[in-house]
Amino acid sequence: MHLLFLQIILGALVAGIDAGRAFPTWPDMAGGFLPPDPLDLQPLWRNFFESPGLVQFIHRMAGYAVAILAVVVWLHGRRSPHPSTRLAFHLILAAVALQVLLGIWAVLSMAQLHVAIAHQASAILLWTLVIRGRFLARHPIPTSIRGHR
Ligand code: HEM
Repeated sequence: MHLLFLQIILGALVAGIDAGRAFPTWPDMAGGFLPPDPLDLQPLWRNFFESPGLVQFIHRMAGYAVAILAVVVWLHGRRSPHPSTRLAFHLILAAVALQVLLGIWAVLSMAQLHVAIAHQASAILLWTLVIRGRFLARHPIPTSIRGHR
């Protein structure tokens, strides 16, 4: 939840400076792992907010970290004895996969409006599902072993 919150803020930074229109290649950025001259601006801190390459790179990396963490969280969540909690974590994993795919599509399409909006809307869906999963992990819906509530 906390990393996802940070990632959504990082996404707003990308969209805010139109960095989604730069570097329309994936998985590389202009042929390299890092964008060219990622720390060109002075003073140094400005690069983290105003360098399109670096801002997009950080959002990509944090997105992969969210995806990896989501798998770890899912491995725990799917062991819940409560079917509704298990389902909540399956949905989170599916939503993360969708989110990453839409992010890649946004990059490749140079942030075409409908793709960018779908990526943004899907972030809201993911955020909602994560809050819900967290709640159901703590307060599961009681289910009888016969399957009746
Ligand atoms: C869990 C993972 C991710 C989340 C939660 C997320 C969330 C967001 C959010 C909230 C925005 C801002 C949209 C706006 O304010 O208009 C955004 C923008 C963007 N994201 Fe992501 N993102 C994720 C992963 C990725 C990945 C993996 C990529 C690329 C490989 C990516 C590429 C982009 C691009 C290019 C934009 C700019 C779109 C625009 O200009 O409107 N995102 N993201």
